[in-house]
Amino acid sequence: MKRKILVTSALPYANGSIHLGHLVEYIQTDIWVRFQKMCGHEVHYVCADDAHGTPIMLQAQNRNITPEQLIAEMKKEHQDDFADFTISFDNYHSTHSPENQALANQIYFANKEAGHITTRIISQAYDSSKKMFLPDRFIRGKCPKCNTSDQYGDNCEACGATYTSTELKDPISALSNTTPITKNSKHYFFKLGNFKNDLRKWIKGGHLQNEVINKLDEWFESGLQDWDISRDAPYFGFEIPNSSGKFFYVWLDAPIGYIASFKNYCAGNNIDFDEYMHPDSTTEMIHFIGKDIIYFHALFWPAILKGAGFRLPNYIFTHGFLTIDGKKMSKSRGTFIKARTYLNHLDSEYLRYYYASKLSAGIDDIDLNFEDFQNKINSDLVGKVVNIASRCASFIRKHFDNELSGFLSEPALFNEFNNQSDTIKQNFENCEFHRSINNIMALANKANQYIDEKKPWILAKNTSQNVHVHNICTMGINLFRILMIYLKPILPRTSIQVEVFLNIKTMQWDDISIPLLSHKINEFRPLITRIESNKIQAIIDNSKQT
Ligand code: 2FM
Ligand code: ZN
Repeated sequence: MKRKILVTSALPYANGSIHLGHLVEYIQTDIWVRFQKMCGHEVHYVCADDAHGTPIMLQAQNRNITPEQLIAEMKKEHQDDFADFTISFDNYHSTHSPENQALANQIYFANKEAGHITTRIISQAYDSSKKMFLPDRFIRGKCPKCNTSDQYGDNCEACGATYTSTELKDPISALSNTTPITKNSKHYFFKLGNFKNDLRKWIKGGHLQNEVINKLDEWFESGLQDWDISRDAPYFGFEIPNSSGKFFYVWLDAPIGYIASFKNYCAGNNIDFDEYMHPDSTTEMIHFIGKDIIYFHALFWPAILKGAGFRLPNYIFTHGFLTIDGKKMSKSRGTFIKARTYLNHLDSEYLRYYYASKLSAGIDDIDLNFEDFQNKINSDLVGKVVNIASRCASFIRKHFDNELSGFLSEPALFNEFNNQSDTIKQNFENCEFHRSINNIMALANKANQYIDEKKPWILAKNTSQNVHVHNICTMGINLFRILMIYLKPILPRTSIQVEVFLNIKTMQWDDISIPLLSHKINEFRPLITRIESNKIQAIIDNSKQT
């Protein structure tokens, strides 16, 4: 059955560049999306820049430009980075868009009418010289528990305590270095507790990984608090209707940005938005996220959707963080690596393959170890996969005018490659990409063994053996083709080169069962080249400088 699936990756903030940490998720989602499309499903993969909030407003102020200018600039940068990593969004929008404002208002009003919004006065740190309330991150002071100085307004890095910014001792505004005062203001709250039963049911409904469910259970135990969805002016965001000087908190309209981007896409592509968003929809909505934003996606998001009469997500797929050489990314070590810095030195296909080889359905962190990265690419992709094609193609060209033989000499081996299809598919489906790669590399070993045993380079010395050489190399090319079909979601650029080399139409999953025989191919050109160590060093050196 053909599935209809709306897929999203988390929306990157419009005040920072895409780095290798972000790319874990975009590459993961993109592989999954490409896999589903190759299997014939209707998939719409959308994303957007997350354009609102205080940090973006302040960064624009510091640069003496408008927030609109800043977010336009960043959107272009992000889209260029994604395109060069072949992330195949069907639509890339912005949360600062008319569609998002309309949907945010609609969702807000629906929840308000249903009694899920309340207001109350809260007191917060206020910077009188800048005339603004201070988010926790913009206040520094002494930890109320352990007295360590220079701590943020929400938690202490020394003792791990969490507290409110008004509890911080000797607080200082990071914006003006003055002492903030405490000031009252009316805020709007979303009554998350109203959705306790719906959420409990949804959480048990097979929409989340077990590790995520365990986390959510902890939060349930400690009680579902009202969620503060408003911020006072000055704020870069959408003003709350019928309230002067109050804005939606960035995290309210951010996930709405998923469906706003989709709506924007539907309008230009004759797709029925309501069919996807209807509460009884038979389509699927799947979000890929990092484990730091589970709370927003697995509690607030389903609750506000429910409150507004929309469908809920079918699956929220959570991944862990990236470490580099076993440690957090760090500017001083040169491991805070921007997407662009990487691209200036290395092919995106390498990183896609490496991440895939590490990605599983768990939420543990994944490590990028540069030595392992280099070895894996050089040995798996160059040494095993591409090697099969380059070994066989030279004989096909030299002796057979680039035409494959009409005879499949080892049907059992061919079937063995075909028979792995369901296993590999299931592993892609479940985001167990590292398992798919293990399956595929086991087959690549078999293909190389076959050629090693048959030794076409010896047979080719004797023209009486021509038929054998032709059949062996045709077999080799056919095995290579199956491997490349299996690898296509991971290696989209290489796949296009392979389609040109094999002179075939764009490869689909089901093509594996029909061998390529009596078929003219094109001249082989190197598909993937080895990674040299100096390239990796250059990336690290450049990341230290920037
Ligand atoms: O954590 C972040 O980077 C957010 N910008 C993610 C937003 S995802 C969605 F909710 F918009
Ligand atoms: Zn402390």
